[in-house]
Amino acid sequence: MLAVAVLAAGKGTRMKSDLPKVLQPLAGSTLVQRVLASCAGLAPQRRLLIVGHQAEWVESTLAADAGLEFVLQQPQLGTGHAVQQLLDPLAGFDGDLLVLNGDVPLLRPETLEMLLSRHRASGAAVTLLTARLADPTGYGRVVANAAGEVSAIVEHRDCNDEQRRIDLINAGIYCFNWAKLAAVLPELTTDNDQGELYLTDTVALLSPAMHVEVADADELNGINDRLQLAQCEAVLQQRLREHWMREGVTFTDPASCTLSEGTRFGRDVVVEPQCHFRGAAVIGEGCRIGPGCLIDNATVGDRVEIVYSVVREARVDADCAIGPYAQLRPGAELAAGCRVGNFVEIKNSTLASGVKVNHLSYIGDADLGANVNVGAGTITANYDGVRKHRTVIGAGSKTGANSVLVAPITLGEGVTVGAGSTLTRDVPSGALALGRARQLVRDHWQGPS
Ligand code: UD1
Ligand code: CA
Repeated sequence: MLAVAVLAAGKGTRMKSDLPKVLQPLAGSTLVQRVLASCAGLAPQRRLLIVGHQAEWVESTLAADAGLEFVLQQPQLGTGHAVQQLLDPLAGFDGDLLVLNGDVPLLRPETLEMLLSRHRASGAAVTLLTARLADPTGYGRVVANAAGEVSAIVEHRDCNDEQRRIDLINAGIYCFNWAKLAAVLPELTTDNDQGELYLTDTVALLSPAMHVEVADADELNGINDRLQLAQCEAVLQQRLREHWMREGVTFTDPASCTLSEGTRFGRDVVVEPQCHFRGAAVIGEGCRIGPGCLIDNATVGDRVEIVYSVVREARVDADCAIGPYAQLRPGAELAAGCRVGNFVEIKNSTLASGVKVNHLSYIGDADLGANVNVGAGTITANYDGVRKHRTVIGAGSKTGANSVLVAPITLGEGVTVGAGSTLTRDVPSGALALGRARQLVRDHWQGPS
């Protein structure tokens, strides 16, 4: 039997933020959600989140996480006090308790699996993750012998000079035999520099206490301030880029690009400098993205080229070319082979295959049939000040430069709209529509002198 408890009640004073620390964003998720995700593969029978500081905010953020039990720690008197709150909900629980700090978000699932199997194989009362750090400042130091047995953990601020030189640090990730931990939890005291109840003090009360050192110390990075937040973001970004390079994506300037966990690439995608992928950004095979793109929660088909553009909550099918300087907003859906050029904005609109919107246009709440050619500067006037209305343009139609289509309006198939027209009425298929002032020319005109 396995229970997982995540400590997320602390204030996070060093963050200097209104947002609770465990809700700080990291690679498109939050600290605590990343921690919860790292232990999902262990399929624990119970999952408990200890909340306290701004508990309601944390709970409402995680409300959709079915089966997660919230345990309130009020007031917050330290990590040991936090785990004491489990004595009630876990009364009679017979198994291991994995305790994770809510601010250690880079843990790999494999590392937790390794911790659990080592703990179970050795039969220790507690097994904790450690690492050797060149700069262990701020972390609890682990006093251990060569056999991996831990006699104590001393917090940085409670260390004497000799202890401060220990480079083996406590990650705040522990696997306890719950019954043994429960027996010693009431013995904790506040005899330390912060006057708190420290979970780390239980290791001196439990035997045997073992530690397992991880190879990649980056995994154990704890986040206490914004500097460490940025460092963790950098580690995660590096991991994501490396993963996708191994999967066949070329980054011409990897360090200038950022990815989300939900980003997916097909093979032979080339990502040029300064591209950012957020949310579920799914990019097909053979695409060329960038330089300078933001792709946010969008699906892009195969062989699409996007240059200096923003694509957000939109769908772009195969063989389209976007940009430079285009913006595809939520609900833009482009079928295969469309061309959207410079200074074009498209919102909540469907473009059938082969549509061209090459220059300086706004297409909002519109449905464009196959091979429609939208002239430079065409605007769909979709908003009457109260409501949005749709514009429908049939297949093969062409709008002249600087056309304004005042919605609701339907143009049939094969319609031609003269340049500079403002159209307010429907146009049947095959017609020419002109809606502009007639040109006046006075020969030999003499202006006032
Ligand atoms: C803790 C460890 C330290 C370890 C470090 C690793 C203790 C005493 N020290 O120190 O040995 O090296 O983590 O990152 O445990 N929390 C609560 N309730 C509280 C206090 C804290 O839920 O009353 C939660 C916090 O929200 C946080 C986690 O526990 O997620 C760790 O607390 P924090 O104050 O950051 O501990 P550290 O000083 O980093
Ligand atoms: Ca911490």
